[in-house]
Amino acid sequence: MLAALDQLESAAIAELSGIGDPAALEAWRISYLGAKGKLKAAMGGLKDVPPADKPAVGQRLNAVKVKLEEAFKARRESLAAAPAARDDGPQVDLTEPGLISTSAVGRRHIITRVRDELVEVFARMGFSVAQGPELEDDEHNFIKLNIPPGHPAREPIDNFYVDSPLKTERPRMLRSQTSTVQVRVMEDAVAKGWGPPIKIVSPGRVYRPDTVDATHSFMFHQIEGLYLDRGVSMVDLKTTLFQFARAYFGPGAEIRLRPSFFPFTEPSAEFDMKIALKPGEPPRWIELGGCGMVDPAVLEMCGIDPEVWTGFAFGFGIERLAIGKYGIPDIRLLFENDARFLAQL
Ligand code: DAH
Repeated sequence: MLAALDQLESAAIAELSGIGDPAALEAWRISYLGAKGKLKAAMGGLKDVPPADKPAVGQRLNAVKVKLEEAFKARRESLAAAPAARDDGPQVDLTEPGLISTSAVGRRHIITRVRDELVEVFARMGFSVAQGPELEDDEHNFIKLNIPPGHPAREPIDNFYVDSPLKTERPRMLRSQTSTVQVRVMEDAVAKGWGPPIKIVSPGRVYRPDTVDATHSFMFHQIEGLYLDRGVSMVDLKTTLFQFARAYFGPGAEIRLRPSFFPFTEPSAEFDMKIALKPGEPPRWIELGGCGMVDPAVLEMCGIDPEVWTGFAFGFGIERLAIGKYGIPDIRLLFENDARFLAQL
């Protein structure tokens, strides 16, 4: 009998601890403490207990009753004190993700994307990437590119000099063209003995004091190319440019070379492509950049024998290519960083 009471007590307590609402609590009360409940039934069994054991069993019965009544009260109170919000409508799950995302998803800027696309196309054609400084000197921006003192391209009004070109022997400047990297790569190849052959492209920023309008900016991007080897000819240049245009703009890309002049190439040409800038507009020729066969004087100044090595070079405006590829009507859109515009590309 005592063992049965122990069991009754622990079962009742265990059940009670799992109860979370008033209805279940009332059912528990009826089941254990009610007039026809289990405790009453146990008390009914007292009459069958041998007289000698009756005091002990009777005491135990009482103790169980008191314990269950107290536990019941305690549970009833704790349920009453539990959040009243229980019945106050929907619960809030603080761990649930919000419906409106406040953090916008970022993306690469269109110029960065075009630069990477160009580098990838040229990489497939065997060009590796070279870098040069944006803060340059007159030797790399001009002299070794065959632009001697007194040349009109050196005018202070057309360049961002950091040192006065009148008072300094080798004035520093923000580079006005990525052709500077040609010079640096050739010097490096000779000094370290790894080339020629040389086959590089170099994307980067250049600076010119132009007034900002739909087609000009004081800072823009170019990609320079240089290929030096034995027997490189104008045919290689034209083939490379055609292949590039088709790979980047599609098989229908039309290009043309127009004779031109640059101090560091001979012969020189301008490179145009036929593109419709706006959907529905007839395609027209736009100038993408310059190119030509590297002038022997440039090779010599960089320590390379022009009798052995020949090569071609080219330089394109990256903004121009972006405009052509993505139909952007105004170069300023590329620099204003209006997220509403950038998100469309
Ligand atoms: N540096 C020239 C410019 O900024 C572009 C250019 C022309 C680059 C001919 C070249 C080249 O490498 O061969 O206008």
